[in-house]
Amino acid sequence: MFYITDDIKYVGVDDLDLDLFEGQYKVPNGVSYNSYVCFDKKRAVFDTVDDRKTDEWLKNLNVALSGATPDYLIVSHVEPDHSASIPAFLKAYPSATVVGNEKTFLLIKRFYGDIASNKLTVSEGDELNLGKHVLTFAFAPMVHWPEVMATYDKTDCVLFSADAFGKFGALSHNEPWLDEARRYYINIVGKYGNPVQSVLKKVSALKINAICPLHGPVLNENLDYYIEKYALWSSYTPEEDGVFIAFASIYGNTASTAQKLAQELEKRGIKVELADLARSDIAWAVAQAFKYSKLVVASITYDAGVMPCAEAFINKLKTKNYSNRKVAFIQNGSWAPVSAKLMRSAFESFKNITFCNTTVTVNSALDGLAQTQVLSLADELAD
Ligand code: FEO
Repeated sequence: MFYITDDIKYVGVDDLDLDLFEGQYKVPNGVSYNSYVCFDKKRAVFDTVDDRKTDEWLKNLNVALSGATPDYLIVSHVEPDHSASIPAFLKAYPSATVVGNEKTFLLIKRFYGDIASNKLTVSEGDELNLGKHVLTFAFAPMVHWPEVMATYDKTDCVLFSADAFGKFGALSHNEPWLDEARRYYINIVGKYGNPVQSVLKKVSALKINAICPLHGPVLNENLDYYIEKYALWSSYTPEEDGVFIAFASIYGNTASTAQKLAQELEKRGIKVELADLARSDIAWAVAQAFKYSKLVVASITYDAGVMPCAEAFINKLKTKNYSNRKVAFIQNGSWAPVSAKLMRSAFESFKNITFCNTTVTVNSALDGLAQTQVLSLADELAD
């Protein structure tokens, strides 16, 4: 537990042994479920935690409150990683008023029944006066559920941003923000670029000293850096000029062709990153694809289709609205290579994708003709 300002304290918990976040994302360094308390004439708790950590969180809260009773529980987001301890909280502090919007209470009822006897339903821009601190509410629908709302403390200029600006990784790991924040954003919120842009517009009007997300570290310096990353990600704009090469290989020939292309690009001074889709975390590969301005997908032809891990990668890119990039393909097939045609057809349904003229076709192993195509593709990508 630590103080963010004189009156606002972190009371969240780390979860270091969760196997999959949201039942699908690997979190090798765990995750934090953040919760905060604002101490004033009235005391407000900001969000609860996943039920894996209810007891630890209630203990933190109890220690932080030193025998005092919380007056409000502000619910930014009803996804169970933040709401599952609401029933236990209300059992411990039955007099507390739960603060949310209409959708918040609808979802609480669906998950936990009609458990909130004291409710305060707020609308966009409403204020809640705690004494010295005045809180105001800004709705952030679909960032990343429909009921999500941010809370701004006008007194200390602290933004409680719900899932926005969060990252994978427990606080005790204290790792750099960017890579795991990108993997978190692209995979969890990435589909909802327009709603994020709307929230960023609201945020731009505020003076902010600290951002308190529901996962990951409290951000309290160089805030423009984080806001700028969100502006890029939510507008589907590449962060870096460079090429991400994602390959799916069986006997190594597609992999070595992808590696040959990477070498040729590096010779031309182009930043390049490679991923073996069969062995990489697809969520990471998707996030890295968003990082760069250009993408090459290399796949063997398999069952007259695309290698399943490459197909899953492309499908996930589609779900996350991958757009505004240049894309090229490497295909392999010993008797009937069709994977490039199929991959291109999938990308044709994406928004604002341009295709390289060159497609590399490997017939089993990298021969002279395919080598020439690799050089040609490298020139095109470097242009
Ligand atoms: Fe961390 Fe959308 O919940």
